[in-house]
Amino acid sequence: MSPLHKGIPSTLPKGAPPVRHFLQFADFTTEEHLYVLERAALIKKRFKNFERHHSLADRTLAMIFEKASTRTRVSFEAGMYQLGGSVVHLTTGDSQLGRAEPIEDSAKVISRMTDIVMIRTYEQTKLERFAAHSRVPVINGLTNEFHPCQILADIFTYIEHRGPIQGKTVAWVGDGNNMANTWLQAADLLGFTVHVSTPSGYEIDQSIAGLRSADSYKVFADPLSACASADLVTTDVWTSMGFEAENEARLKAFASWRVSLDMMAAAAPDALFMHCLPAHRGEEVDAEVIDGPQSVVWDEAENRMHVQKALMEYLLLGRLG
Ligand code: CP
Ligand code: NVA
Repeated sequence: MSPLHKGIPSTLPKGAPPVRHFLQFADFTTEEHLYVLERAALIKKRFKNFERHHSLADRTLAMIFEKASTRTRVSFEAGMYQLGGSVVHLTTGDSQLGRAEPIEDSAKVISRMTDIVMIRTYEQTKLERFAAHSRVPVINGLTNEFHPCQILADIFTYIEHRGPIQGKTVAWVGDGNNMANTWLQAADLLGFTVHVSTPSGYEIDQSIAGLRSADSYKVFADPLSACASADLVTTDVWTSMGFEAENEARLKAFASWRVSLDMMAAAAPDALFMHCLPAHRGEEVDAEVIDGPQSVVWDEAENRMHVQKALMEYLLLGRLG
């Protein structure tokens, strides 16, 4: 070893805690989720009071986007700066990721220079391959299969407005997609029920959702029945990123799965409406619903930032306080 490299460890320091990732909602236990949600409330309160909270000073977040984003980009970037850290933003188009550098090599390099990584990509397996070769925690910023940061924010938002979600009913109206899969994982861990209604051919796949049982969800052919007495009604775009070629067929298949005032009227009187956004008024939701009094979509979007700050802090520092 040359004198220049003397003393620089070639592996992680001895005694360092094992690296934890957040690749899907089920990567955390119930207790860990409850801790992160509670911590997010404290972090949000400090932010609203203009109190400095630099728990991740000098740490760097790498954000890798292989799909478009507004909320995920802004919430992670602003959040990391608020924690005293900094951010590196990479896309497929402006990095070697788009020029076929193996994901494993990218993981080894990026995780030597940064402290935590957020990735938005296509297949969950790609995210898992990155994580398997990363020295630092990796967060799922959306894959074809899951969107765990969004559901963390949605549950935080529900609790803020209505208290504990345990024992409640969430109606999912629309595609059996990454959001639906993640709601099902969350229901399993946090003790609520999901009423799922999707058009035929777009059902959830329990094995992709990674569920051991069907105990926490019920399937309804009719979306109105799925909404009956629900505490929360939620939906998502009919065509997720990566499925654009199916758009025309989906417009036809999903026509009856638009969240309407009738569906909200069938839900509990104090039911909330959520949508991860971006939304298409007149497709998956009527304007009267998303812009109506039961909608909490703007709180939901803002809360991405607060829960992700708590998540990054937890992955890097563990339990505090
Ligand atoms: N909800 C969400 O993840 O939004 P973006 O695609 O804008 O990041
Ligand atoms: N299901 C959508 C969510 C967008 C935030 C998608 O994957 O495109």
